[in-house]
Amino acid sequence: MTPSPSPRLAVIVVAAGSGTRLNGGAPKAFVALDDRAILEHSLDGVFAAPSAHVVVVVPDGYEDAARTAAGGRGGRVHVVVGGRTRQESVAAGLAVLEPSVEFVLVHDAARALTPVAVFERVIDALEQGAPAVIPAVPVVDTIKRVDDDGIIVAAVDRSELAAAQTPQGFRRDVLEAAVVAADADHTDDAALVAAAGHTVVTVAGDANSFKITTAPDLERARGLVAPRHAMIPRIGIGTDVHGFGGEGTLWLAGLEWPGEQALSGHSDGDAVAHAIVDALLAAAGLGDIGTHFGTDRPEFSGAHAEAFLSHTVELLAAAGWRVGNVSVQVQANRPRFAARRVESERALSAALGGAPVSVSATTTDGLGFTGRTEGVAAFATALVVPL
Ligand code: CTP
Ligand code: MG
Repeated sequence: MTPSPSPRLAVIVVAAGSGTRLNGGAPKAFVALDDRAILEHSLDGVFAAPSAHVVVVVPDGYEDAARTAAGGRGGRVHVVVGGRTRQESVAAGLAVLEPSVEFVLVHDAARALTPVAVFERVIDALEQGAPAVIPAVPVVDTIKRVDDDGIIVAAVDRSELAAAQTPQGFRRDVLEAAVVAADADHTDDAALVAAAGHTVVTVAGDANSFKITTAPDLERARGLVAPRHAMIPRIGIGTDVHGFGGEGTLWLAGLEWPGEQALSGHSDGDAVAHAIVDALLAAAGLGDIGTHFGTDRPEFSGAHAEAFLSHTVELLAAAGWRVGNVSVQVQANRPRFAARRVESERALSAALGGAPVSVSATTTDGLGFTGRTEGVAAFATALVVPL
């Protein structure tokens, strides 16, 4: 939509962060979702909103990339360089607003998939007289207060909590005065404006307006922008190898094997479960086991198949997939699967929410590391189907 010559509304899109937690090889807003970057997707929502002056705040050196991302949409796009903190980047955007602007929306570029309805709800609340308004969603997880040692010190009543999203909308004079008065760094504009003594109201946010912060968030967003016509069943492959030499008893294919030598690994070394996870994630286009269960996730250290597989099912569901079936083959001299094959199929199937799992086992005629009983290899294929 072509903006009017004297827009009352401006949208400042803050895209100047480096994206250290995502670590995506470029500043976060310039990491690709499909054939287009995160910034381009977030600008879709911005430009679908009612006519506005749009300011994009980017890292030094990314001005041309931002103009290209905004290109072809017509109208009034201003690209400026941001600051060291988000708050400084917002201030850099405010500095170039046109005189006619009365309302300012500040939007994280990292929220690539914010529906236009959220923009409209925020704008409506401003037009009805609210000086400050943010979209918020209920908190679904049970929340605990923890100390520096990771010990829970208190439960927090979830019913009085909400997660703040963007675009956050303000009367221009209110936001400008709060930025000038700021004596501390705030992680969002609502906190800044609240610190300046203003009431901030909420409107409904949207689950798809999540902020892309870490690699799993990026995979989720990529799954959501995949064209719907591509949502036909998909297959994936995964393999894994673990060597004998771990502590305790063997865990393999979701079963404990008393008397058998353990496999080594960050978790329990269950190569069968890990191959299945890789096959499922590959089928759904959600990356691989390292994306979601890296060594930076202490909760999966020592975890068994059930934890890996049930979390994988959740990741799939969040991206619109369920497990069709899984077939996995173990290559190992030990343990002997014949007597427990069906039991392992049942355990793996239960962990996958009931989807059929076939387990087969073979030796390698004395050849290779499996033939020398140095370790176990597993090969899985999986089918996922749209929910
Ligand atoms: N942002 C910004 N200027 C900064 C820091 C952040 O414009 N100095 C923007 C980011 O580009 C992002 C939004 O503020 O769109 C939310 O910040 P966050 O998700 O924390 O992004 P990054 O700071 O890039 O990521 P990280 O904290 O992982 O480095
Ligand atoms: Mg940050």
